[in-house]
Amino acid sequence: MRGARQRIVCRNTVELPAIVAALVLGAAIGTACAQGNARNGEYLAKAGGCLGCHTQDRKDAVAFAGGRALKTPFGTFFGPNITPHPQAGLGRWTEADFLRAMRLGVRPDGAHYYPAFPYPSFTRITDSDLRDLWAFLRTLPPNSRPNQPHELRFPFNWRYLVLGWKWLFFTPGPFTSDKGRTPLVNRGAYLVEALGHCGECHTARNFLGGPKRDRHLAGTRKGPEGKSVPNLTPTRLKKWNDAELKEFLETGLDPEGDVVGETMGEVIRNSTGKLTPEDLAALIAYLRALPALADEPK
Ligand code: HEC
Ligand code: HEC
Repeated sequence: MRGARQRIVCRNTVELPAIVAALVLGAAIGTACAQGNARNGEYLAKAGGCLGCHTQDRKDAVAFAGGRALKTPFGTFFGPNITPHPQAGLGRWTEADFLRAMRLGVRPDGAHYYPAFPYPSFTRITDSDLRDLWAFLRTLPPNSRPNQPHELRFPFNWRYLVLGWKWLFFTPGPFTSDKGRTPLVNRGAYLVEALGHCGECHTARNFLGGPKRDRHLAGTRKGPEGKSVPNLTPTRLKKWNDAELKEFLETGLDPEGDVVGETMGEVIRNSTGKLTPEDLAALIAYLRALPALADEPK
């Protein structure tokens, strides 16, 4: 079964010339077709916060079986079922379908995903990490919970309008490290920009829902659900030392001992609180290295 699946994965992802080249060079074909590492994928899924948006908000909900309502100014989205169920989930998808969805925001039938699915950040995830994520999703028990349609306001219910949005605001392509930064800061940048998609909430948006590039991670007064989201650049966070920031991102307690609100609380529970100490240190080092931007004017 494993072997059969591996062959299918290879047929869809490795071009014939690559296979021929691997044979000619004497390289083991197994390497060219290496299957993703599901254990690493499980960790990456935490760093990417997939669980929150793809699981209903109730105690007995099945993880990754979809149904979570996500309120936005454009209407309510429902995170789909991403378990390997053949009808209700991603059971019939190939690895290539998954890579295309995450990298390009395109559905297997060619339609465009709404950026409520944070692929504008996930596009920065490396190929090898995407393969690991896919391998992890394949290990989930298939669940038959059917998807429900999004409830969007006119004209946002016209999916093809997303093409215009992408043309304006979407730059696909994996993360590349910056030689001017230390490896620690580059790792932190990858965690924040690609997997953690922190900017999806912490960057102000224009009226079309496009991120304001010159306000990157500088917070906004009108974040998701209309609430204010703080500035993550050193302007504000310089008041907290590294240990305080680490404590907050692990437990949700701020230096005054206040408990964080629910939106960020969920990010901490599902995501930053699950990072290894090394990754958390990298994430903090990157926040420290951001250019200090002023808070949004009142
Ligand atoms: C902020 C919420 C959010 C997060 C976080 C999120 N997703 Fe999603 N995802 C969505 C929404 C909403 C859609 C549906 C988009 C649409 O219909 O256009 C979606 C769609 C998808 C799809 C396509 C499903 C289909 O049936 O076509 C895949 C695959 C997917 N997400 C995987 C992931 C993975 C893997 C992660 C974690 C790395 C993740 N998502 C994190 C909200 C999210
Ligand atoms: C779904 C939206 C969302 C995402 C994604 C998100 N945050 Fe937040 N974050 C918030 C909100 C809302 C608050 C304000 C919480 C409060 O006031 O209780 C916040 C608060 C914070 C704070 C406290 C700052 C302060 O000055 O009080 C830090 C630090 C933080 N977030 C870091 C991050 C990092 C790092 C990421 C990415 C891994 C991230 N956030 C992703 C919504 C989000």
